[in-house]
Amino acid sequence: MTRVTLVDVFKHRITQKYLQRSGIHHAVTVAGYAFDMAVEKGVDPDLAAKSALLHDMGHYEWYRDGKWDYDEYRRHDIHAIKGAERAHKLLIRLGEDRLTAKEVSVAVLLHTDSYLPFGLDEKRTSLQQVVAKADEKDEQPMGLHHYKEMDKSEALKRLHELDQKIEAFFDERDPESV
Ligand SMILES: [Fe+2]
Repeated sequence: MTRVTLVDVFKHRITQKYLQRSGIHHAVTVAGYAFDMAVEKGVDPDLAAKSALLHDMGHYEWYRDGKWDYDEYRRHDIHAIKGAERAHKLLIRLGEDRLTAKEVSVAVLLHTDSYLPFGLDEKRTSLQQVVAKADEKDEQPMGLHHYKEMDKSEALKRLHELDQKIEAFFDERDPESV
């Protein structure tokens, strides 16, 4: 089966629609961190980078009187739930393997526990941990990381490079399968 690439995922209109809200810069940066951490921890880097790229696609902006209201946003937030559903639908449409789509979706669901009545520390799988840690690494106070900018062309360039690194990783690991 041909691999669904990060570039394929990024270019899809569903991704374009939802990633604008939480910020392309954040999504692409976290995908890069997740790749490095996955290789280090023995986690599938394709799953980690895809989950990281899509982890915030359930976000929405919370404005009051034309201003971002972070506290209100935190109180109502269910972006991980929405993101998990959107990521799954998107990957299935792109022809992704169904088990991969499920793993990515659950990693998106559990990338944060801020909306849950209990913590997830120690309960996450290695993949889920990598995605949560990669996200934390790029986080800034008051959600400012969602407002850093990145051109679409720069995002595509970085994601293409990541795709090449992911493919090289698998080629090296299973040279017979090429
Ligand atoms: Fe995030």
